[in-house]
Amino acid sequence: MKHLLSTKDLGSKQAVSLLDTALEFAEVAARSVPKLPTLRGVTMVNLFMEDSTRTRLSFEAAAKRLSADVMTFQATGSSVSKGESLHDTAQTLEAMGADIIVVRHSAVGAAEELAHSGAVATPIINAGDGTNEHPTQALLDAATLRSVFWEEPRGRDLAGLKVLVVGDIAHSRVARSNAVLLTALGAEVTVAGPEEFLPEDVSSWPVASTTDFDAAIHAEPDAVMMLRVQHERRTAGDQVSLDEYVNDFCLTEERANRLPADTIVMHPGPMNRGVEIASAVADSDRSVVLEQVRNGVSVRMAVLFEVWGDRS
Ligand code: CP
Repeated sequence: MKHLLSTKDLGSKQAVSLLDTALEFAEVAARSVPKLPTLRGVTMVNLFMEDSTRTRLSFEAAAKRLSADVMTFQATGSSVSKGESLHDTAQTLEAMGADIIVVRHSAVGAAEELAHSGAVATPIINAGDGTNEHPTQALLDAATLRSVFWEEPRGRDLAGLKVLVVGDIAHSRVARSNAVLLTALGAEVTVAGPEEFLPEDVSSWPVASTTDFDAAIHAEPDAVMMLRVQHERRTAGDQVSLDEYVNDFCLTEERANRLPADTIVMHPGPMNRGVEIASAVADSDRSVVLEQVRNGVSVRMAVLFEVWGDRS
């Protein structure tokens, strides 16, 4: 795997191998000195054209745990304001010593285009391209599901696991990447949201879909993944009223109480508390939100290890 651009490029075998490697790296975090020399002398650059807390910082933490050097580029305050392109920015960073470039961009396909353009020779990791894909988020979500459902008394893997993804599916790269990856790993994924938030091509996704959140709760999912309403990607013609959305799709305490006792609640963050998820649910024993964040570091360690090992 020279680049990680899309979950579609990962077969189930490669995904499981990455998740296994992540599990080994997770043990490093528990050490008194949580560091390995694996990527000593390698420079990873975070090239972030969109805002981020979790992804940017966990790539940074992952690289540092593998002893790599880290450079961070943020669009705000950079020469992007003077019209510098993604290609020119990436080439500039490569000339400064970047060995691996992690890209977040608002344009669909930005990371893929950079990887295949020949503009730079470095491995490229997609940290989110517009509404398209967020492969490391899907991997960390799979790692979290695996770790939770392996534990006794559950003792099962992802095969047949019922995962309900709820919210602004149309604008969500997290939903797209999870639909591909979790189904490749054997999970049964259902997406739920108001008609306007379901993608027009949802019938071509490897998932079931519904506009009835309460019926989907009644179907007793093993995991419910709540997604943020992406106000920054909504359009003027978008008819969804926020009040109606909260009424029909917020995971309230009352709705959570109707879930089976061992159903877990996930959220990729950042959360809009009181919109898609009630605070009481986000902070409840069902919530594995911070476990997802923790797994993000070890999953990204595994991805960095893999792309660096496979560079040609
Ligand atoms: N989940 C996620 O991508 O969060 P950030 O936008 O904070 O990186």
